[in-house]
Amino acid sequence: MKIAIVGLGYWGPNLVRNFLSVPQIKKVIGCDKDVQRLEKMKSRFPEIETESDYDNLLSRSDVEIVAIATSVSSHYSLAKKALEAGKHCFIEKPMTATPQEAEELIQIAKRKNRKLMVDHTFIYTGAVRKMKEIIDAGRLGDLYYFDSVRVNLGLFQHDVNVIWDLAPHDISIMNYLIGKKPISVSAVGSCHIGNGLEDIAYLTVHFENNLIAHFHVNWIAPVKVRQMLIGGNKSMIVFDDMENSEKIKVYDKGIEVKTREGLYETLVQYRTGDMYAPKIDQTEALSVAANHFVDCILHDKTPMTDGVSGLNVVQILEASERSIKQDGKLILI
Ligand SMILES: NC(=O)c1ccc[n+]([C@@H]2O[C@H](COP(=O)([O-])OP(=O)(O)OC[C@H]3O[C@@H](n4cnc5c(N)ncnc54)[C@H](O)[C@@H]3O)[C@@H](O)[C@H]2O)c1
Repeated sequence: MKIAIVGLGYWGPNLVRNFLSVPQIKKVIGCDKDVQRLEKMKSRFPEIETESDYDNLLSRSDVEIVAIATSVSSHYSLAKKALEAGKHCFIEKPMTATPQEAEELIQIAKRKNRKLMVDHTFIYTGAVRKMKEIIDAGRLGDLYYFDSVRVNLGLFQHDVNVIWDLAPHDISIMNYLIGKKPISVSAVGSCHIGNGLEDIAYLTVHFENNLIAHFHVNWIAPVKVRQMLIGGNKSMIVFDDMENSEKIKVYDKGIEVKTREGLYETLVQYRTGDMYAPKIDQTEALSVAANHFVDCILHDKTPMTDGVSGLNVVQILEASERSIKQDGKLILI
């Protein structure tokens, strides 16, 4: 199989490196309209071909897959052209700039019978897969909350705010782990550099049965924090992605609520048991994702992070942005 990787800026070279190591991929063609970036790629990976014109790539019948790692605003038009040209399509997160664009790409992929996958990279990490295993086995019991912090002195993006840049990771993890659609979203945020793009934001997502999720994303924090807390009535998980070995800790801690008969009083009792840190697979997530996509194409399977999961993330991002513009108004999903 031959794959073209479009957009060789910050993230694209990681796609090149990982798709080069997929056994079924016989050729990688790097594409960027910036010729200097193409030269840099060629010197780093001499085995790749390069091409500066996207339309030339699409007219090649030997190229079966197109991976798109350009700025978010261009994902839709590049992916649409690729699918219409009969290519399988791998799109960086977030899938598109609007839910309507994502829906249209899903329809085109269906009509052309092509595979569409969104690179929600974190779903392919050993840590997230382990958390999924623990939650699906019922170890947490009924879920109470999902709380995520992703902050650092970040790379300011010129076309999207901090929500569109950082929150797709956490929202895709939440959707994958919880497996339910939210009811509503509210968000607040602010911009400190005068270009109208929020650099700090706080999102709250509501589900049925009092399950609540919160996301804090920030490009101007002095320290890098990548932490998630997932609480249930049986046990709770702390996922700290800055930890090298014990990224996940499962705490047998919680509360038990008792109402004393005859008294208008609710008693909250605390339960503190053991903590354990499960072993997790350390394989690079992007390598797992690249192999998974090729496997889905060869064996006609649906990618774990298909167009629909891309759309589900974009819907929450778009609702959050609308909420911010209306000072945190609750937006129904
Ligand atoms: N999965 C992840 O963890 C992860 C991490 C970082 C970025 N990303 C995503 O990757 C994408 C790219 O981000 P980036 O930071 O690498 O951007 P970037 O600006 O560094 O690079 C984009 C590249 O695309 C090229 N380009 C744009 N339009 C083109 C076109 N029509 N034809 C050919 N080349 C074109 C530009 O010249 C540039 O070299 C974004 O969607 C971003 O959200 C994903």
